[in-house]
Amino acid sequence: MATGTPELQPPKFPSVKSLSESSALTSIPSSYTFTTDPSQHTALYPKDSIPVIDFSLLTSGNPDQRSKAIQDLHRACEEWGFFMVINHGVAESLMKGMIEACRGFFDLTEEEKGEFEGKPVLAPIRCGTSSNTSLDKILFWRDFLKVLLHPQFHSLNKPPGFSEVSLEYSQRIKKVVEELLKGISKSLGLEEWYINKAMNMSSGLQVLVANLYPPCPQPEHAMGLPPHSDYGLLTVLTQNEVGGLQVQHQGKWFNVNLIPNSLLINIGDHLEVLSNGKYKSVLHRVVVNRKATRLSVLITNGPSLDTVVAPAPELIDESHPPAYFGMKFQETFTLSPTNKHHGKSILDQVRI
Ligand code: OGA
Ligand code: NI
Repeated sequence: MATGTPELQPPKFPSVKSLSESSALTSIPSSYTFTTDPSQHTALYPKDSIPVIDFSLLTSGNPDQRSKAIQDLHRACEEWGFFMVINHGVAESLMKGMIEACRGFFDLTEEEKGEFEGKPVLAPIRCGTSSNTSLDKILFWRDFLKVLLHPQFHSLNKPPGFSEVSLEYSQRIKKVVEELLKGISKSLGLEEWYINKAMNMSSGLQVLVANLYPPCPQPEHAMGLPPHSDYGLLTVLTQNEVGGLQVQHQGKWFNVNLIPNSLLINIGDHLEVLSNGKYKSVLHRVVVNRKATRLSVLITNGPSLDTVVAPAPELIDESHPPAYFGMKFQETFTLSPTNKHHGKSILDQVRI
């Protein structure tokens, strides 16, 4: 460093929560100004809602009901890449408890949360703001918490009860995902346990991601999360009553209107690779608003870190040549750390 130059302090990024709670805030700091074209945030309400899958039919002993549910699943995966699951058997109180536990975490003091800030990408527990404050050119109006739940369960000792509710939620969601992957295997013409086995789901990576989007004085200029697809096989989302999630469908943006107590599922990049592009991961984003705080809790479900994800040989033939190179799942976290939350950045690296 040249002598005489005052030493630069590393930039300090408060949580969006603390920023939003400072009463003086009438406009957003320029580091959050995402767009100057408010029309970019507008989205439609789908006339036919996002597809609905009845989990009780998918797991039914009646073969006709089951095959109808698998057909529905096939259509949902092919046409939208997003679907709501009803009658999934996860108790409403558990879903609400998980959301409240995450709210309790965000309500801890900045000092208490500080212990988990600035950690590397696969740290067992980490929290922060935006996506990666040292890489994001523009900051997102979002605070997050990430906890690794499987193959090793990591426990957060504050707020009280977080550990118990996250363990139970993790286990319940894992069962739902296992059944969905059985149905998805069938819907691709594969043997029922194909994906669970090929992806070593018994030691699969499961991560809890909690997102907090506080009220924003200039929502048309900020972005909660920019358009991106998720890594992994399936993401499972539950949320509080505040909307903001939008998904891309046939080139247009649609608002997600969740059926109360349903789980929202979307296809991740690695299922796109495994299915050789038959089922695609889908771009989605989050917009923010002036009045209410959105809180979402996602469980990402991927293969074990050492699994090589490549198009299933059974789905390759002369008219369907492999469309992706194989990649070790672990590489997801090193391939493109610079634009994790932009577009389909992981797939851009493995497309043939
Ligand atoms: C994500 C995501 C949506 C939401 O964290 O990858 O898409 O509603 N979140 O928070
Ligand atoms: Ni996402």
